[in-house]
Amino acid sequence: MTRILLGICGGIAAYKSAELVRLLTKRGYDVRVVMTEAATQFISPLTFQALSAHPVHTQLLNTEQENAMGHINLARWADIFLVAPATANSLAKFSYGLADDLLSTLYLAVTCPVFMAPAMNQAMWYKAATQENIQRLTEHGISIIGPDQGIQACGDTGPGRMSEPEAIVQYIDKHKTPELLQGKKVLITAGPTREQLDPVRYITNRSSGKMGYALAEQAQKMGASVTLISGPVALSAPREINLVLVESAAEMYTAVMQHISAQDIMIAAAAVADYTPAHIHTEKIKKQNTQTELKLVKTKDIVASVARLDSRPFTVGFAAETQNLEQYAQDKLVRKNLDMIAANQVGQSEGGFDSEVNALQVYWQKGQQTFAMTDKTQLATQLLTLIAQRLHA
Ligand code: PMT
Repeated sequence: MTRILLGICGGIAAYKSAELVRLLTKRGYDVRVVMTEAATQFISPLTFQALSAHPVHTQLLNTEQENAMGHINLARWADIFLVAPATANSLAKFSYGLADDLLSTLYLAVTCPVFMAPAMNQAMWYKAATQENIQRLTEHGISIIGPDQGIQACGDTGPGRMSEPEAIVQYIDKHKTPELLQGKKVLITAGPTREQLDPVRYITNRSSGKMGYALAEQAQKMGASVTLISGPVALSAPREINLVLVESAAEMYTAVMQHISAQDIMIAAAAVADYTPAHIHTEKIKKQNTQTELKLVKTKDIVASVARLDSRPFTVGFAAETQNLEQYAQDKLVRKNLDMIAANQVGQSEGGFDSEVNALQVYWQKGQQTFAMTDKTQLATQLLTLIAQRLHA
């Protein structure tokens, strides 16, 4: 079910938003409403609570509301952020990134597509400042719906009437991100593994889990039912995701094999240890001579094991390389019998491990695609879109 966070600003058109909520819920959208202080002067939050069947959010600093669903969680929850009506004042705040109330703060916090249906007097609409703000927002990737022409509540005639609720719903239906993974089951591995040496030490790597968690969140937003098998990370998983926490490569292998049947897609974004200590010491290893040796044995290759199954999902591996990116990635694609491999350059100042951004060079048997450096959420959407296309091909 697509989740719409609907922002309502203080204008006379706010009365039309009640019909908008009714139509959106009727179309099957899950709607949560956020109102500015001014909007509550025009129409009661109770109306929207009754129509959306959920409490209405009005304040940024309200412990009760933050406990129920904090503003960051609300922003993460949304698949679509729609502001209708969007007043000249709110458009100016969005355009300049001001965040002095819940709605404007949410605008900065959301990562989903944003739609705005302006509503104001025609002279305010024509004002250069408003037109500049609309242009800036368009350049920032915001979709502007309307406004319509006609007689206005103040008696003027011209552009500035909020688009009719039916037209807004049709626009959203047409322009929302297609649910490319609707009905698909996706298993994703993420984060590092910890290979225990003794009761106080382990071998691990620099993976933060951000790439895998972004994939899980975006796959869910694209309609998939997601199982996320994660090594130890400091991230919280998106709601409604089947999260399985593990520590070692062996535990990750077992968890993947337990959950792999009936999966349509597997994406191995975890940085799994290739080797693990041959022996876990039950007591802390004592300091000895100037040199010591550690005996390591190979771990089971999880993604390659999945790719060997008789009934296998569309299997996507990652390749983290410091050099020869294409050659090593192509080699892993063939050797591990994968359907696709997403290669990233690691060990550089930007991208890869424990970074907010990343770039990918993706290979499959007869093709390849480059995704330039961008934030991991955006990159996850790009990779998942490609996976959905290849899956259907
Ligand atoms: O977690 P972040 O901080 O966001 O960083 C993201 C990332 C750099 C960890 C991620 O983008 C990435 O590259 N993940 C794979 C890291 C890795 O272990 O690459 P590899 O080239 O060593 O392994 C190749 C593939 O085999 C990977 O899909 C890996 O998950 C898989 N593998 C490896 C060993 C093993 N025993 N089992 C496996 O399934």
